[in-house]
Amino acid sequence: MDTVHEMKKLGFLGCGNMGGAILEGILEHGELAPEEILVVEKSEERTFYWRDKGVSVSESPKALQMASTLILGVKPQIFDQAAVDLGTLERSCTVVSIMAGIDSSRISAALGEKARVVRTMPNTPCTIGMGISAIARGHNATDSDMETAIEIMSTVGRIIEVEEASMHAVTATSGSGPAYLFLMAESWIEASIATGLSREIAELLVIETIRGSAELLHRERAPVTLRKTVTSKGGTTAAGIESLENNGLRKSLVQALESARRRSVELGSEISS
Ligand SMILES: NC(=O)c1ccc[n+]([C@@H]2O[C@H](COP(=O)([O-])OP(=O)(O)OC[C@H]3O[C@@H](n4cnc5c(N)ncnc54)[C@H](OP(=O)(O)O)[C@@H]3O)[C@@H](O)[C@H]2O)c1
Repeated sequence: MDTVHEMKKLGFLGCGNMGGAILEGILEHGELAPEEILVVEKSEERTFYWRDKGVSVSESPKALQMASTLILGVKPQIFDQAAVDLGTLERSCTVVSIMAGIDSSRISAALGEKARVVRTMPNTPCTIGMGISAIARGHNATDSDMETAIEIMSTVGRIIEVEEASMHAVTATSGSGPAYLFLMAESWIEASIATGLSREIAELLVIETIRGSAELLHRERAPVTLRKTVTSKGGTTAAGIESLENNGLRKSLVQALESARRRSVELGSEISS
């Protein structure tokens, strides 16, 4: 074992977009110093990035054996091979998985019973500290493991505790959720341009409308009331809403979430190569 990596408190197996957002949050909040963290990464660009911040980076997954808390930040499709490379954990470890689909019993089966697993499902707004992360206790996690996971995930936004059985639904709702909104923004901008506006004006109008409406939603927590307030009978909004309803917006969302949920279940049972 490389002595430089001994006694690291927190390890990351994969530290890309989401793992990286969490690491930035931890460093920003001063929860740990860079020298207390070890990242195992494949990407050369990310390796340079984290080294530049004073974080140790290794190519060897075995170095993570020294971590007391381990964040699993790789894609679910490569987890099996990454777990083989890491090997059974030799010392007691809080394992916080951000991977979609893969349940805690499969993670413990791969990393051994010294891995006490907490699952979390963050989302992209974590990159600006405004995420929402669901946290679920795995079968052998303790209160202290939960506290550790909560402390970590709180650095990038709000958290909510759920049962592990709900994680597929959470993934479909808030894990994938930002992309639904981004797709909507994209199509909304194109639709706005089709009504005769320039791209510059359409982008400003749509993005600020989403931003202000999200803030209103956040404050009032009443989407139905807010919609009714802006929809006067016989008015322009009513005409637009009627078209959205008739063209199946609600059904599309139901199907989108069900497809994402099913894919999460599949990812959990697929054996990666
Ligand atoms: N992105 C989201 O919005 C989001 C939301 C919720 C949950 N998640 C979960 O977060 C996890 C990571 O997603 P992501 O979007 O952050 O992916 P990502 O940006 O691709 O990050 C994964 C990182 O792991 C590296 N890697 C690949 N194989 C590795 C190995 N064997 N050992 C160590 N590092 C390895 C990758 O390097 P290369 O690029 O060189 O392969 C990459 O830098 C996934 O399990 C996903 O389900 C993501």
